[in-house]
Amino acid sequence: MTTLGQQVRTIVSNLPRQDKLFFGGPPHGSEIDREIKNYNTYLESGLPSRQRVCLGICAFDQNGQVIGYTSSTIMTNANPTKYERESIKSTTPLNYIQGKKIVVAQAYWRKGVAEKLFKESLGLAKTHNKKWVTDINAKNIAVLKFLEKHDIQKQFSWNTLRGTEMYRVGN
Ligand SMILES: CC(C)(COP(=O)(O)OP(=O)(O)OC[C@H]1O[C@@H](n2cnc3c(N)ncnc32)[C@H](O)[C@@H]1OP(=O)(O)O)[C@@H](O)C(=O)NCCC(=O)NCCS
Repeated sequence: MTTLGQQVRTIVSNLPRQDKLFFGGPPHGSEIDREIKNYNTYLESGLPSRQRVCLGICAFDQNGQVIGYTSSTIMTNANPTKYERESIKSTTPLNYIQGKKIVVAQAYWRKGVAEKLFKESLGLAKTHNKKWVTDINAKNIAVLKFLEKHDIQKQFSWNTLRGTEMYRVGN
């Protein structure tokens, strides 16, 4: 039987080449399964007292097949990593929700699946009284337009170690 994580991995593997590159390659199914488990635990017993918790949320079709996925990291006084200090110039403890991944199976694009997933992620931010942010490849027009439609605006740009231009966006 395929796990939910494996189904998400297949969705990413089947994306057009350019979108797959934006995604940074297909994630490990076990990583996705861990994020989904974190979300179920969160729904049952609330937020654990950790600096960073990554929660994974799936969208399903009528047959229970995964058609979309999003994950977000809830940060609570999280010490910036070396990467965050050097690339994003974060110096103080982080207290936002950071969108980490969002993907929808190509056959379901432009039907509101990402919107449904995004609203759940945004709902987490509202529940915990935190801002919502994410980092998007400056060339990923589809996601930038999507986020713009939901009032998520560009805050600044930064470069990865390999020189890829990224936009920090948020509310
Ligand atoms: C971006 C993505 C998640 C959108 O999913 P979706 O379910 O099709 O989005 P929705 O139907 O909820 O929203 C549609 C809106 O998104 C934006 N959008 C989606 N695709 C777009 C495109 N190709 N060009 C421009 N805008 C686009 C538009 O604002 C659109 O609204 P409109 O139809 O009124 O113009 C999907 O295209 C995808 O999985 N892309 C590849 C993965 C990826 O790059 N993830 C980001 C890195 S983690």
